[in-house]
Amino acid sequence: MSGTAISTHVADGIARVVFDVPGSPVNTIGTVVKDELEATLMELRGAGSVRAIVLSSGKPDNFMAGADIEEFVRLETAEQALRLVRAGQALINKLADFGKPVVVAINGACLGGGLEASLACTYRIATTHPKTRIGLPEVQLGIIPAAGGCQRLPRLIGLRRALDIILAGKTVPAAVAHRRGIVDEVVHPAVLDEVAERAARRLADGWRPTRPTGGVMGALLDRNPIGRRIVASQAEKQIRRSTGGHYPAPLAALDAVMHGLAKGVDAGLDREAEHFAELALGEVSRHLVQIFFADRSLAKDTGVDGPAPQPRPVRNLAVVGAGFMGAAIGGTAALKASVDVRFRDAAPDRVQAGLNAARSILERRLKRKRISRHEYYRKRALLSGATDLTGFHRADLVIEAVFEDLDVKRQVFRELEAAVRDNCVLASNTSTIPISRIAEVMDRPDRVLGMHFFSPVEKMLLLEIIVTDKTSPSATVTAVAFGRAMGKKTVVVRDRPGFWVNRILSPYINESARLVEEGVKIEEIDAAMKHFGFPVGPITLLDEVGLDVAYKAGHVMHEAFGQRMQPGGAVARLLEAGRKGRKNGTGFYRYEDGKRKGVDESAYDLLKIDPQPVPGPDIQNRLIFAMLNEAALALEEEVVRSPRDGDIAAIFGIGFPPFVGGPLRYLDGYGIARSVDMLARLEHAYGERFAAAPLLRRMADGAERFYPSSP
Ligand code: COA
Repeated sequence: MSGTAISTHVADGIARVVFDVPGSPVNTIGTVVKDELEATLMELRGAGSVRAIVLSSGKPDNFMAGADIEEFVRLETAEQALRLVRAGQALINKLADFGKPVVVAINGACLGGGLEASLACTYRIATTHPKTRIGLPEVQLGIIPAAGGCQRLPRLIGLRRALDIILAGKTVPAAVAHRRGIVDEVVHPAVLDEVAERAARRLADGWRPTRPTGGVMGALLDRNPIGRRIVASQAEKQIRRSTGGHYPAPLAALDAVMHGLAKGVDAGLDREAEHFAELALGEVSRHLVQIFFADRSLAKDTGVDGPAPQPRPVRNLAVVGAGFMGAAIGGTAALKASVDVRFRDAAPDRVQAGLNAARSILERRLKRKRISRHEYYRKRALLSGATDLTGFHRADLVIEAVFEDLDVKRQVFRELEAAVRDNCVLASNTSTIPISRIAEVMDRPDRVLGMHFFSPVEKMLLLEIIVTDKTSPSATVTAVAFGRAMGKKTVVVRDRPGFWVNRILSPYINESARLVEEGVKIEEIDAAMKHFGFPVGPITLLDEVGLDVAYKAGHVMHEAFGQRMQPGGAVARLLEAGRKGRKNGTGFYRYEDGKRKGVDESAYDLLKIDPQPVPGPDIQNRLIFAMLNEAALALEEEVVRSPRDGDIAAIFGIGFPPFVGGPLRYLDGYGIARSVDMLARLEHAYGERFAAAPLLRRMADGAERFYPSSP
């Protein structure tokens, strides 16, 4: 038997059902697959010769990526959404009520609908393949598991463990899925088929697996209505705290889970369907799905337009400057890209400190069981360092992370040019210095570029690759590919002051400092922007970055762009009074033993102001439109290659709220003409710095958008 996406082979009473959606690297469950699976199940159910089934995938490294996202973004009405979700539920119910044992053999990602189908099976086996990840990522796309996931997972592993997965949209590797009771066995991929068939045979012979019950806490909290209410109320509080009310999916998922536990599976499925139909058509989900696709397409982008040369493999990385940033870059490179890392710094104790800091990145991973002890020792052995450039002749890429001073950097680059191979790429990790100014002292400027990492390097997902007019495509694609190997979302930007992220951040930060000077309360400014959806407010950000660093960067931007980027005086005045922010315990806020203790009221005295309340929306408009307008100006200068890159960089570089899709998506959603009107109002009230970007004016005249109107 075989269809387009499913083939079946029966031998010795066991039917092997293999999913393999043609022409796609992953299996997804769209309408065609659903119909085929339904027909296959009908046939196998009636086949007397079939005693059990093994479900598996024909893809080398993917089991099932869940519902077909392309299909669900095309939904236009709640009725269509309900029909889609009901069909999925009915199919998975058929699997659950199949009447003969069904073993699922999972190799590669088993996500969303893939896991929901697996949960309806009798026995689950997963492999140790690195791509095997199991989970329900739906809330990350603004929807909920609606094919029984909110019902079957809590019944299988207990309420608390299920909520941990469902409410965060988590995916976990096979070993963790096994520990949590989601899968019954973990095996090497080479023996998966054999183990699955054996399990199918045993189940057909009447064997029933025993599963842990969750112990005393399980009895008290998961299987007892009062305990469940306590768990639910804590979960709700936690969701409200973490989403700030901007993401409706986690609360909807919680409701579907709790409703099902109180009223039974059928009622729970109804609730799943209702929530799905509402969420799938909502703005938040549309934006999150757009980000998913933007992110996927960025992950395949070479970094240059048109035909691209092959990136050169980077096996040996060298890092000049083993300070805070250099050590973190080297440590993360060893961790993620498993490359040999050679540090160089001026003095032996600095080299040693850098090595220690890089090793501590690996140690943290080991402690959290993210890497094995064997991997830890292997990666640790990749790190070495010296006070000279020995070993640099082997480097494929050098990243310089020394003091932010043009002359110092130029000197380092000149030295490097003499020490490295011809095809080695030379990168500067700078946030303020133009790469072209460094490159101009080089004999070979074509291999010079910037790699702007964000701090903390280990955690921040964005990497800006800065190219000059002289940077070669080969150097660019090599840096992009290496950044990706380090696990970064890698965006190529033009060598303009502030690049992209700091460029659009500057006017926003300046405006927030102006508001303080005008007498707006510090905590109100932060609260207004958190309310808009930023993870932290701008004044908190200033304190975190350090007022000295912010002052210096502000100065660079002012010099480059003039009046529009003029910083207010607040940061300079606090700095004169010795306040640097969190790093020295005093900035706009007060800190004790590293903990923030509220606004430092004496900052108001220093600034000679008496703060007054101001409505939140006024604050938001000034700050957000300062950033959006700058984004339009920078896009017109081609600082980023596309709106996609600009949005992804803003989301992952500064935490621009994902639920609105990024700054350029936000402008589209708000309306370009309306944005131009808003800027005109702000210009009238607060000055020329709000003059609308020419690009926005032209787009408003032509009724254009940054993105086509459909997703
Ligand atoms: N629906 C539609 N298309 C999907 C998809 C889905 N659920 N999952 C993956 N794809 C597409 C990707 O967009 C990509 O398309 P492209 O080649 O045209 O760009 C292709 O499948 C390969 O995916 P990619 O992400 O590049 O491969 P990967 O091996 O790095 O990762 C996954 C595979 C499955 C881990 C990852 O794609 C993923 O997380 N998918 C979404 C899972 C999800 O959220 N499921 C719940 C849906 S409700």
